Amino acid sequence: MSKLPKLKLCEGALKKWKGDALVLLLREEDCTDSIPFAGPYEETVKEMVRRKDFTGKKGSMLRIPLLEGDAKNLYLVGLGKTEEGSAVLVRDTVAQTLRALGRHNCESALLLPEGLERFWENEEKDKNSVPASELLAEAAELAGYSFDAYKKKKAPDEEKEEEKKSALKELSAPELKEKAVERGRVYASAQRYARDLANEPGNVINPSELAERALALAESCKEAGLNCVVWDEKRLKEERMGALLAVGSGSHNPPRFIHMSYKPQKARKKIVLVGKGITFDSGGLNIKPDNYMATMKGDKSGACNVLGIMKGAVELGLKLELHGLIAAAENMPSGTAYRPDDIVRARNGKTIEITNTDAEGRVILADALSLASELKPDAIIDMATLTGACVVALGKGTAGLFTRDDDLAEELLASARRRGERLWRLPAEDEVIAEGLKSNVADLVNSGGRYGGATFGALFLAEFVEKDIPWAHLDIAGVDFCDKERGVYSKGATAFGVRTCLDYLCRLSEE
Ligand code: BES
Ligand code: MN
Ligand code: ZN
Repeated sequence: MSKLPKLKLCEGALKKWKGDALVLLLREEDCTDSIPFAGPYEETVKEMVRRKDFTGKKGSMLRIPLLEGDAKNLYLVGLGKTEEGSAVLVRDTVAQTLRALGRHNCESALLLPEGLERFWENEEKDKNSVPASELLAEAAELAGYSFDAYKKKKAPDEEKEEEKKSALKELSAPELKEKAVERGRVYASAQRYARDLANEPGNVINPSELAERALALAESCKEAGLNCVVWDEKRLKEERMGALLAVGSGSHNPPRFIHMSYKPQKARKKIVLVGKGITFDSGGLNIKPDNYMATMKGDKSGACNVLGIMKGAVELGLKLELHGLIAAAENMPSGTAYRPDDIVRARNGKTIEITNTDAEGRVILADALSLASELKPDAIIDMATLTGACVVALGKGTAGLFTRDDDLAEELLASARRRGERLWRLPAEDEVIAEGLKSNVADLVNSGGRYGGATFGALFLAEFVEKDIPWAHLDIAGVDFCDKERGVYSKGATAFGVRTCLDYLCRLSEE
């Protein structure tokens, strides 16, 4: 597990501050003669702007070594062209900046209030926005994330720039509000927990190890009321989880079903989260070509998210009854593997004709969603790296949202906006695509033709959800990992969706 230096978020005022880096965030509009900055370094900043050494361009950063005073450097950071520095933009910029400062061997930094004032004003205007202190805490705690548990420690001069460990230990910012900082930390730590798990490879995390991790999480949050029950193969048979058993049958590592629960007194609502936990997706007998198989350790990201969200929700003490259901299996080809043409029966009694063993996520989720429906919750949200088609449609920066419930859609979209995780609503109803679900020999097939694959997946899942329960499906294929750091996301697993769902749950709890 990666250990990152604890950033100290504390009150900071320029006058008495001593340290490595003063940071001033400026928009392009600010970089004129009337630059809105009147500090001791005003002349220096103005001169840099006059010389066009700094223009406020998005992503730009200028270091000015200071020879006088207690601060060693002044960093000018560009926010780009923005009418109002949007909260998300500021948060992402702060994250990128902290990363850069850490690599410049800065141990301490102070965000100057001049660049942040607008941001604080926004907070007062818009009660819907996430408090600035909370976003700064998120940025501080997520920026330095890296997964390097398996890497040999290198001497500093051997390290590539992007591999360098952050030296940053302390971040100060004006007008921090303690409660909001604490909340931001919980959000970030939930997402980091999920990233650490998702980054682990298939030879470390198989279904039973995933279950062990879930049990360990419940143990560590026992006092707060987090529970975990794990079903093994024998129990899965008794529980009629024929779909999960079929997908798991090809691997030496047998499947597991994990049920996390949290039932505080005076719960306002009951919500079930469901996660796809394919610990490795080889495609099974319909094996993936090699260039598609690599990265499929990430196919458990939905499950990791669910665990992260449960952890966060418990730490926040949400007044909600929460269930986290995880179907975990390894999709492998072998003499015992499920085959194309097989007919399997899911927990709700429906039969599935397997037309492609690589469309395994929906098959295991069939059982999980059936069980979720039996719990009769107020809403079900599932998270799954379900389809390549969703990645083709939306790219690697946006997750697909599928729901027939407009209110639920609006709430999730609003939470996603607040947290800077981009969601886009795609159709969860379509008669033409639904035609393709029909099977000659069973109730439905598990895979359709080339077109509309992401919606096909959602339509398949819908067959296992009780009709009157509001339900949303998040297809997080594509956004689950990133190859380049971006905003609060470091290279590797992103745990995209954890903060959005936590935000949604928080709001339900406060209603
Ligand atoms: N886990 C994959 C989907 C995926 C693709 C996740 C790319 C992340 C990145 C899923 O199990 C899968 O293989 N889906 C198939 C479905 C097809 C066989 C109907 C796909 O999308 O190609
Ligand atoms: Mn697959
Ligand atoms: Zn898969």
